[in-house]
Amino acid sequence: MAKITAGVATSHVPAIGAAIDNGKTTDPYWQPLFAGYDFGKEWIKQNKPDVVILVFNDHASAFDMNMIPTFALGCAPSFAPADEGWGPRPVPNVVGYPELASHIAQSVIQQDFDLTIVNKMDVDHGLTVPLSLMFGQPEAWPCKVIPLAVNVVLYPAPSGKRCYALGKAIREAVDSFDEDVNVQIWGTGGMSHQLQGPRAGLINQEFDNDFLDRIVDDAENLAQMPHFDYLNQAGSEGVELVMWLVMRGALDDKVTLKKRFYHVPASNTAVGHLVLENN
Ligand code: DHB
Ligand code: FE
Repeated sequence: MAKITAGVATSHVPAIGAAIDNGKTTDPYWQPLFAGYDFGKEWIKQNKPDVVILVFNDHASAFDMNMIPTFALGCAPSFAPADEGWGPRPVPNVVGYPELASHIAQSVIQQDFDLTIVNKMDVDHGLTVPLSLMFGQPEAWPCKVIPLAVNVVLYPAPSGKRCYALGKAIREAVDSFDEDVNVQIWGTGGMSHQLQGPRAGLINQEFDNDFLDRIVDDAENLAQMPHFDYLNQAGSEGVELVMWLVMRGALDDKVTLKKRFYHVPASNTAVGHLVLENN
């Protein structure tokens, strides 16, 4: 049977991708950030997934004002890196897992979540930067990836509560897939940041650290936090953190914390990273 064995959370700042692609990871500005991922990189070599369900948000790369699905599941055999203005990142194409993705779509939709199916989607820094942080710069990504795009860019965005419940539905879907597959689920984006308006540059370390505490041990209550609190306390882009709740909902109620890392800033963003194992 397929099994979700672990969850990973990480921020996805585009400048992190540029630092990797341009060989700047040991620069004084970047070195402490990348050091925080040394554990995760080693851990994932020992705990190699067959597939990652990667919960991310598209930043007007694949979707735009013409069409923005709330939850879009990538069911294609492959996904190319998006051109975000400087050409596509020099990273491998993402290999999908249509059989498992279709099964998840079937199961989750029958559990009353109205997923959109996507068969063509270029994936932007929201998806490729987390892969680079965990896997470095391989010729090919070492596992399959099922992208799950969540709209946190254009209001109305889904609530934390809805995202957490979606995680639980995904868990049920994976548990009922009749093949031996080691599945990880990653929640990406966040932590506190605001890229626009008078509060651009906002970072709230107290909020972020409280979020890091609670997503491990108090996720059910954390999921009740309304959007206003994300916006007010974590900035307009801090609402990306609802995607971490999809990941957390798909894990056991009690998990083992293997790694916690927090670093301020990377570009305009507070970077958070967790590695959580199901027991
Ligand atoms: C930055 C952070 C993001 O999450 C993003 O999508 C774009 C830019 C930043 O801090 O620069
Ligand atoms: Fe973002």
